[in-house]
Amino acid sequence: MKILVVGSGGREHALAWRLAQDGHEIVAAPGNPGIEAVARCVAVTVDDLDGIVALAERERVDLVVVGPEAPLVAGLADRLRARGLDTFGPGAAGAALEGSKVVAKQFFARHHIPTAPFEVAPDVASADAAIARLTANGDRVVVKADGLAAGKGVVVARDAAEARAAAREMLEAGRFGAAGATVVIEKKIEGREVSVLAITDGTRLEVLPPIEDHKTIGEGDTGANTGGMGTVSPAWVPEVIAGRITTEILVPTVRGLAADGIDYRGVLFAGVMVDPGGAPYLLEYNCRFGDPECQPTLARMRGDFAGVLAGAARGALPTGALAWDSRFAVCVVVAAAGYPAAPRTGDRIAGLDRVPDDVTVFHAGTARSGSDIVSAGGRVLGVTALGIGVDQARDRAYAAVDAIDLPGKQVRRDIGARGR
Ligand code: GLY
Repeated sequence: MKILVVGSGGREHALAWRLAQDGHEIVAAPGNPGIEAVARCVAVTVDDLDGIVALAERERVDLVVVGPEAPLVAGLADRLRARGLDTFGPGAAGAALEGSKVVAKQFFARHHIPTAPFEVAPDVASADAAIARLTANGDRVVVKADGLAAGKGVVVARDAAEARAAAREMLEAGRFGAAGATVVIEKKIEGREVSVLAITDGTRLEVLPPIEDHKTIGEGDTGANTGGMGTVSPAWVPEVIAGRITTEILVPTVRGLAADGIDYRGVLFAGVMVDPGGAPYLLEYNCRFGDPECQPTLARMRGDFAGVLAGAARGALPTGALAWDSRFAVCVVVAAAGYPAAPRTGDRIAGLDRVPDDVTVFHAGTARSGSDIVSAGGRVLGVTALGIGVDQARDRAYAAVDAIDLPGKQVRRDIGARGR
């Protein structure tokens, strides 16, 4: 097949890398210097929806795989399908599960999917009242901007005062612009988080092995939230809990989408909190592969990935087409100085040639500057290694991370160290 991968991050590098391994011809828009090794990159940006549709038609691609959420929320998949192009990624109605926290939480409630109690607040007075009600029993709350906020629109408040301040920042100070014009206040569920990716054609599901992300910038889960500083596949989750996530969350979601008349062809990425009793609660849905969840997942994936994506896009997801390497995979993110608040760009990256062949370095925020590769975003690289056991995978990934020079680089040293 000739496949167009839309996007320019570490997730898209992993997608293009994995699809190219099976001999497919990959075009990427816009891609990045890492993706160039496995695909032909064309300078069309992900927000240029007309440009992407025109590129897909001009190239006569067999399949379009859309990486990031913003073009999906903006309706790119609808536009591609309207032109008769097989597309992996939900249309705008399905992508609203990520694009609007209000839409998502109301969907969970309507379809009896276990989730934290919540209230929707369009103004400060209703936010204050919701915070008072939800914290009355001593619970903590999470304040979420309704719209897309580049992974920064969620504040886990330590107490009611901090929750009220977060709500004010979104609703009054306009911290996230229109995305924060309405907020969701929800009870904080205590437990351990896990990411679950499932590929669906709107009817069938292929649930991928669960992954553990490490969201904050600091070791020991401290500091500001990021898009993700490192991941482990498979996650700590025992089979019985994974089974509950499928039956209590994913299956009702696919049924709910169908009942709501939404033809969802793409990834359902469930952010799940497992409470100390082993009960799963859906925190959020994303409408695309996770980043950096995608990287270790694809490093372990065997089988006909392109066939699965194309099958989902065509409404005929094959079952049993994927298999998994029994080893663990760890992805350690190398982030730029200043990330996440104000990442510094333009730093020269050296030592990529010192990385052993059995470790894969996925480029995220990189660019070419003359003959150099330089940083061009907050998360710069995702260094991914396989190992017999998490410790061996971690050791291999960190040895490669240490071989790479990036001035001011930030690396969490505890990826995969939480235990199982
Ligand atoms: N790593 C979390 C995300 O992709 O949203």
